[in-house]
Amino acid sequence: MRKPIIAGNWKMNKTPSEAKELVTALKPLVKGASCDVVVCVPAVDFAAVKEAAKGSSIKLGAQNVHFKESGAYTGELSAKMLKECGVDYVVIGHSERRQYFGETDETVNLRVKACVAAGMTPIICVGEKKEQREAGYTNALVSYQTLIALEGLTDKEVAKAVIAYEPVWAIGTGLVATDEQANETIGVIRKAIAGKYGKATANKTRIQYGGSMNPKNVKGLMAQSEIDGGLIGGASLKAEDFSKVVGFDKE
Ligand code: PGA
Repeated sequence: MRKPIIAGNWKMNKTPSEAKELVTALKPLVKGASCDVVVCVPAVDFAAVKEAAKGSSIKLGAQNVHFKESGAYTGELSAKMLKECGVDYVVIGHSERRQYFGETDETVNLRVKACVAAGMTPIICVGEKKEQREAGYTNALVSYQTLIALEGLTDKEVAKAVIAYEPVWAIGTGLVATDEQANETIGVIRKAIAGKYGKATANKTRIQYGGSMNPKNVKGLMAQSEIDGGLIGGASLKAEDFSKVVGFDKE
């Protein structure tokens, strides 16, 4: 059985004082959660979140990592830096990074390798654009994105990785994939992993859905056989909403 994982992706939101306030409010609400709970926050919030999350099972996540160990890469953060700040999870290849910051499948793979080598868990984002779905390319595209991202990892590392299937047309739009669409595409991703790393490995890899997931639609999505959790943007910015998603409202 795969343990579900609900991760908040705060994106470019919350100052350190706001982060402290949110996590302090969240803590009692997610106490005893049946799933792994992660908040992926701006790097300037790491210390505040770590401090506020003390005594809870809320894990710290980052939103990106550079693939070089150190050097002349102004503005970037290495895996070792994140690790030393107490980061356990790193979102890699989010569609916003692909769209606005030139992220490619190849750089996603380099970042995944750096993240795993430092002992952190990658949350690897894949997903199709609206026109790609309409043209019938979804399955081929998400399979390709997933396999390139995982290239060079061992079976064991693949089993530990988290994939987030996020249809680009569903992110921040209020348009959510139907439960069946999400389940079907996640099944395709799992099949692609099984084809290369074996069924036993693929059955361990957790695959989340992401894209306008909220307290209202979480129950139906989480009831699907292939969906192991969610990557939550908008609904992770309010403690009450996020805690309801964590509670799969109500399972
Ligand atoms: P959303 O974002 O929940 O606001 O659609 C999800 C994401 O981008 O990870």
